Amino acid sequence: MSTVRRDFGSFHSSNVQELLELKDDDYQLPPLPVQGPNFLDIKPDLHFGKSIKNKYFILEEECTFLNHGAFGATLKDALLVAQKWQMYTEKQPLRFFDRELLPLLVYVTRRLAKFVGCDPRDLLLVQNATTGINCVIKNLGLGPGDVIFSLSVTYGAVKKLLKHICAETGSILQEETVQFPITSRDQLISLVESTLRPEVTKLAVFDHIPSNIPFIMPIQEIIAICHKRGVPVLVDGAHALGSLPLDIASLKPDYYISNAHKWFCCPKGCAFLYVKRELQSVIRPLVISHGFGSGFNSEFIWSGLKDYSPFLSMPTVIDFWETVGPDTMRKYMYQLCHQAAEHLVHVWNTDLIAPADMFGSMSLVRLPDTLYNSSSPATYQQAEVIQNKLYYKFNIEVGASCVFHTLNFFVQNLQSKYDIHLGFNFSKNESNILFSNLTCLVWMALYFGSLAISIISISLFGILYCFRTSLAFLQ
Ligand SMILES: Cc1ncc(COP(=O)(O)O)c(C=O)c1O
Repeated sequence: MSTVRRDFGSFHSSNVQELLELKDDDYQLPPLPVQGPNFLDIKPDLHFGKSIKNKYFILEEECTFLNHGAFGATLKDALLVAQKWQMYTEKQPLRFFDRELLPLLVYVTRRLAKFVGCDPRDLLLVQNATTGINCVIKNLGLGPGDVIFSLSVTYGAVKKLLKHICAETGSILQEETVQFPITSRDQLISLVESTLRPEVTKLAVFDHIPSNIPFIMPIQEIIAICHKRGVPVLVDGAHALGSLPLDIASLKPDYYISNAHKWFCCPKGCAFLYVKRELQSVIRPLVISHGFGSGFNSEFIWSGLKDYSPFLSMPTVIDFWETVGPDTMRKYMYQLCHQAAEHLVHVWNTDLIAPADMFGSMSLVRLPDTLYNSSSPATYQQAEVIQNKLYYKFNIEVGASCVFHTLNFFVQNLQSKYDIHLGFNFSKNESNILFSNLTCLVWMALYFGSLAISIISISLFGILYCFRTSLAFLQ
């Protein structure tokens, strides 16, 4: 039984560490004045589709929402639980913030750590992937001549951060270009193997699923290569939690960041940062507050007065995933996405930007040449026109982006607008419009619920029909 002090009054956060260190058998759940649903009505033979969308999400019925990866979509029950926490907070704010909150956040951390396969002492709750990545990069102590290694598919905002830190510290950004179409996982592994320079590289940064070209990076192999050469790895897994099986213990990254407010369906403002134990002494919070000096987790757990309810709703989201079954959900999402991509490739007579088995819940399919028949390179504006027409005419929500084979990072940064399922591929004076119905399919998948297979099929063909109609329109 735990003997730790329970009173966190006046932000004495030192026993956050003690609570995180306790073995499961010794750990006592804090009182939970707000309870979420138990999801007992979810049956083992649950079918996914429209009715589960209506029951568990509040997405507009009439919108074909193909861009779940951009800002996620929150589980309705989690949103309600977060609101209940807000209401509870205001009943007696002192009691909540001063005495109850930190043990509750420890509880959330412990549950999430179990879900992603790591020790809770190595896991920090942060507001979003951007915060987590900034925190690592700004603490590296980079100096002149140090190299940060990255690939051209790195998320645009992260590229800006890396460029900024290099300009500030005199370090160098080495960005290796990924050639399209990607032919195999080995292509990426070889690219890293042949270009990584261990003698100067202080950190390698990889997206687990790049948002513009949403293939699944062979991250385990890449981490192993980097480690063999003594280079620490930061994985930007903004799209990972929920859309991938995540086991940090077996991946062995040095730093891993994932959003919980995208594919995991938590309320907005919910992400985590994992830091390997040996590296924790140099990683300090971007915001220094009461926990400073009281241990790694204590330093992060309180970052000033704010709304902590998104984190407190996370156990409800975990309950949902555990009840429905992460593997079942992913199987559905992947299957639906792959089937749709295959169908589009077939009817359009085009191709995928990477082998089908490198995609999970998102995919990228080239649009038919007839849709884009200019000999000059396509522009972001043209992609935007298509995106807007799909939205305004058909209420289909998709992203747009351009992928350049040249090292024009400025333009690419401009284009890196959240989740991309629509892109332009410039290659040797050839311009092809790439289209992917990614997230929608995934999201359809996340409408896991009460639809029988027949209804799923109808939905799928409905979407495909919309795409085809919109293409006809665009032509
Ligand atoms: C690969 C990648 N990294 C980082 C981010 C930033 O996530 P957030 O805005 O939640 O910080 C995104 C957002 O889409 C992303 O796709």
